[in-house]
Amino acid sequence: MKAIFNILDTSANKTNNHFLTLQNARLDLVGELEAIVQYENHLMQTNNQAAQAAIRDIAKEEKVHVGQLMGLIFSLDIESKEMFEKGLKEFNEENKLKS
Ligand SMILES: [Fe+2]
Repeated sequence: MKAIFNILDTSANKTNNHFLTLQNARLDLVGELEAIVQYENHLMQTNNQAAQAAIRDIAKEEKVHVGQLMGLIFSLDIESKEMFEKGLKEFNEENKLKS
């Protein structure tokens, strides 16, 4: 079972922390993806309409957060952006061939 609380590491050097900021953004991205998985699983496990509406709305917001974090990661690591775009292009080309 996962821990509910994270303990803040105050030893980080805030004056030269590009690497730490990038790594934290990647970890935050994982957290957003995990949240989407959890919300969508919970959405599938209820027939309560109020719960479904709330959970569906929250899951959509998490997807916005994914986009925001991807933007941050791309701004901190241009190679990530280039590789993302390369992967997207490869996916689109492979799927164009299949359809
Ligand atoms: Fe979020």
